[in-house]
Amino acid sequence: MKILIVGGGGREHALAWKLAQSPSVKQIVASPGNPGIAQLATCVPAPAEVAGYAEIAKAHAIDLTIVGPEAPLVAGIVDEFYRHRLKIIGPTQAASRLEGSKLFAKEFFARAGIPTARSGASLDEFSFPVVIKADGLASGKGVIIAQDRQQAESAIQKLGPRVVIEEFLEGEEVSFIGISNGRMLLPFAPTQDHKRLLDSDEGPNTGGMGAYCDARILTSKQSGEIMERIMLPAIRQMRQEGTPFTGFLYAGLMMTADGPKILEFNVRLGDPETQALMHSFRGDFAEVLSMMVTGTGAVSGGAWASPSVCVVLAAAGYPDNPRTGDVIAGIPEAEATGAVAFHAGTRRDGDHLVTAAGRVLGVTAGGATLEQAIHNAYQAVEQIHFAGMQYRKDIGQKGLRRWSQS
Ligand code: AMP
Ligand code: GLY
Repeated sequence: MKILIVGGGGREHALAWKLAQSPSVKQIVASPGNPGIAQLATCVPAPAEVAGYAEIAKAHAIDLTIVGPEAPLVAGIVDEFYRHRLKIIGPTQAASRLEGSKLFAKEFFARAGIPTARSGASLDEFSFPVVIKADGLASGKGVIIAQDRQQAESAIQKLGPRVVIEEFLEGEEVSFIGISNGRMLLPFAPTQDHKRLLDSDEGPNTGGMGAYCDARILTSKQSGEIMERIMLPAIRQMRQEGTPFTGFLYAGLMMTADGPKILEFNVRLGDPETQALMHSFRGDFAEVLSMMVTGTGAVSGGAWASPSVCVVLAAAGYPDNPRTGDVIAGIPEAEATGAVAFHAGTRRDGDHLVTAAGRVLGVTAGGATLEQAIHNAYQAVEQIHFAGMQYRKDIGQKGLRRWSQS
């Protein structure tokens, strides 16, 4: 099987890394890919329009395409591939509205009866803190938690007229991701992202500073509740509305005292959750993907063996104004510890590897226990250097804290 991976971040590197281990995968092409992916795949520049990906798929005789980021999905890459009778995993443009528009999503949750934060049109309907969200795609940066009326009003000014105002939910945040063929959904292991820039969940929101995967994040009762109240109703409602959801469905959840509530759906895999998921997965991931496409065979989940941890190394100035061009050293030493350094924003510059975006690397390791996985990941992180490197020291600690209490 020949696979095309659309994208060029840490999530796509993790997918390429896992798929390269599948006996059935003969070749991987990535567009645009990155220097890490280039060690495993043929990288071709990203085309200007989504139609260009279909041309790449044909030129390389690709059997199956998977899409990392949301932008090409929202731009209709899946519809384009269907028109050319090419196999692809992802939602159509119509189904991608679940992520592309927060207003659409809120109305969808109501139609599907999916529990979510109460939302309204006016600040008068809420106490503080209150949550203000921009309507369109914003890479996790379009959400402001306002502590008082003044902050809320300036957030509304900043984010523009199309905003969602909703109640602030308290609880543990969990990423619940599965793959769907439009009728059923195969859930993956639960993960937790760390969205704030600084330790102890301080500082601004980012695209994600690290993630870990551990089956204990949810009890089996909680996972069952999430499937019954959130994932399956979403799949059912999408089908009923004539826009069946195919591809990776990612629920950003708040585990509140009243049970799981949806913060948002993403129509793709999470980044950096995927780095932790792929590291922990034992099985043939290409097989999971192709069974989803063909709808044949019993789709087994493979095994999410032991905990894994991904620590994101970010550039100076991230998230507001990341600096690029800093020389990166120490990846071979980091990988000699047994960890994998997934490339997110790197670029070759002569003989050097340099920073090329806000999130630079996702250093990922496993372990028999979460504690061990954390230790292994940070031992590898210590080997890597670039000027201005920022990272959180506490990835996975919220899991350790919770389980030491129970
Ligand atoms: P979203 O893009 O909707 O996932 O929001 C980004 C982040 O803002 C989430 O990961 C949460 O940490 C936080 N957030 C969003 N909505 C709420 C809410 N209603 N209550 C509390 N925190 C929220
Ligand atoms: N880790 C958050 C996201 O992928 O949206």
